[in-house]
Amino acid sequence: MPAVDDKYELESIMIPSDDIKRRVRDLASRIESAYRGQEITLAGVLKGAAIFMSDLAREIGPTVDVRMDFMAVSSYGNSSTSSGVVKIVKDMDASVEDKHIILVEDIMDTGLTIAYLKEMLSTRSPRSFKTCVLLEKPERKKVDSEIDYRGFTIADEFVVGYGLDYAGKWRHLPDIWRLSRAPR
Ligand code: IMP
Repeated sequence: MPAVDDKYELESIMIPSDDIKRRVRDLASRIESAYRGQEITLAGVLKGAAIFMSDLAREIGPTVDVRMDFMAVSSYGNSSTSSGVVKIVKDMDASVEDKHIILVEDIMDTGLTIAYLKEMLSTRSPRSFKTCVLLEKPERKKVDSEIDYRGFTIADEFVVGYGLDYAGKWRHLPDIWRLSRAPR
């Protein structure tokens, strides 16, 4: 097992890549059925959602006109405790007005980031607004924010891999891993 930090190590696989692939395919097929014949914009939150969103997009068939856009927010920096303050570091390139928007996030922890982005994007008059989140930690939730397309519900453990990082590391791993101890 690779130990790449003197404090934290990868401990064990929580969700193997095959399970992730299967679930991503399910989510994509639900999105495809809901939006057949229409245009949608997947709005990914960098950097955590980049890998999830690119896999998700490729599983949505050609009957949906899929656009991809990204935004970057900062709330964690290099630490892992939500400050509750979300700063838009990079906004979406295209207008949201009159579009079917699906906000794509890697994980809902406290829910503060998604609640903030939902509020912000809703003021821009999208035609519809939905959320697609790979992982949800219900025990950590601080605000009630609805998830329309959910990958997995997980326990309150800090996870990395498949786009998720700790201090910039481990995003590239195809499986989702637990860390040896929680960085908080
Ligand atoms: P929230 O605003 O507390 O819901 O935080 C969401 C953000 O926190 C995510 O987009 C991640 O960047 C980060 N985060 C929360 N839990 C984890 C975790 O277990 N691993 C990696 N990043 C996490």
